[in-house]
Amino acid sequence: SEATPDIRKGLVGVYADESAVSKVMPETNSLTYRGYAVQDLCEESNFEEVAYLLWHGELPNAAQLAAFQAEERANRALSPALLRVLREFPADAHPMDAIRTAVSFMGMEDAETADISDAAQRRKALRLLAKIPAAVAAANRLSKGLEPIAPDASLPFCENFFHMVFGKVPQKEVIKSFDVSMILYAEHTFNASTYTTRLVTSSMSDIHSAITAGIGSLKGPLHGGANEAVMHMLSEIPSPEAAEAWLRERFDHKALVMGFGHRVYKSGDSRVPTMKKYAEIMAEVVGDTRWMNTSAVLARVMLEEKKIHPNLDFPAGPAYFLMGFDIPLFTPIFVCSRITGWAAHVFEQGADNRLIRPLSFYVGPEQRAVPPMSTRG
Ligand code: SDX
Repeated sequence: SEATPDIRKGLVGVYADESAVSKVMPETNSLTYRGYAVQDLCEESNFEEVAYLLWHGELPNAAQLAAFQAEERANRALSPALLRVLREFPADAHPMDAIRTAVSFMGMEDAETADISDAAQRRKALRLLAKIPAAVAAANRLSKGLEPIAPDASLPFCENFFHMVFGKVPQKEVIKSFDVSMILYAEHTFNASTYTTRLVTSSMSDIHSAITAGIGSLKGPLHGGANEAVMHMLSEIPSPEAAEAWLRERFDHKALVMGFGHRVYKSGDSRVPTMKKYAEIMAEVVGDTRWMNTSAVLARVMLEEKKIHPNLDFPAGPAYFLMGFDIPLFTPIFVCSRITGWAAHVFEQGADNRLIRPLSFYVGPEQRAVPPMSTRG
């Protein structure tokens, strides 16, 4: 039989392409978007500027930002048809299934779906950036028997999302924590969902198909779904004092601890210190330190016992809980941010495309003749 080739299950350590969008540096535990450190972007800019940066390669000046904001605000409204479709969703549908289906429907009604030129893909990406939060918020309210709240073009991106979900805009510390989470979630090289969007784009399919597929990938608890799983886990632990025993009991069952570990970072996720800082600010604002105290115990024990560090989903979960979002909304919020990174990669894949098609090494039965039905055992 032929020699076994070098198979890289999970594509571990495989460089599949070049990319200019972002750089993860495990050796220095850092991450840059188009050359800018994410920590600096969190302090010196906001999510709208970062969306522009990821798509255009440069931070916007005041005029460019104003034009980008105006374009985004003008595209937030959902069509009456989509609102009717959202009303048909099962009330117990998972919000990731809801936004996956809503994006797929947006593709059906977008006049430019068939046009995969760079200019058209960019116009469609902006419509997705503007409409995904409105669809996430509307589906969430409908699932609770509440009427959707229409997007408000007078509000900035983050304020508008809170207004559509809760009917009000929270204090600036909450908006800042949310904005920081959106910057940190925006982009992360060839993670599973991003590579999914590139793979779909590589066959010359359209951006709505690519993003629908990306949402499907992000939903998994090994990836974006972890931020929801983290909060379910924290909610199971009665108190910070009970956390160590709870965790050790899980060690006995070799269970995965959600919110920990990473394929690329091996000495901690560069985004965690910033997200942790803003999760602690949320704990102060709300006056509820239970979740961050429990988290601190889990992080200590995981490091001591397994040498495994938290990833971004670990502090993001409690931060979103403290902001008041339903736990199943946590990963759809990740979608509202990651649409920026996904689209940047769709543009890049489309600009220098090569169909993505790896090989499989066959280990099934040797070739054999087809037996007539009468002789089949
Ligand atoms: C995100 O790729 C990205 O960039 C993703 C992301 C992004 O921005 O797009 O950063 C967002 O998805 C973060 C990851 C969120 N997922 C989770 O928190 C789920 C829990 N994490 C694990 O499933 C795991 O750490 C992965 C999936 C994140 C990484 O898996 P790898 O690289 O395949 O690592 P591995 O499974 O080979 O783990 C190595 C060892 C294993 O032990 P052994 O089988 O060798 O004895 O470490 C153990 C694992 O069992 N391990 C864990 C663990 N993570 C790794 N053990 C317990 N709990 C964990 N969380």
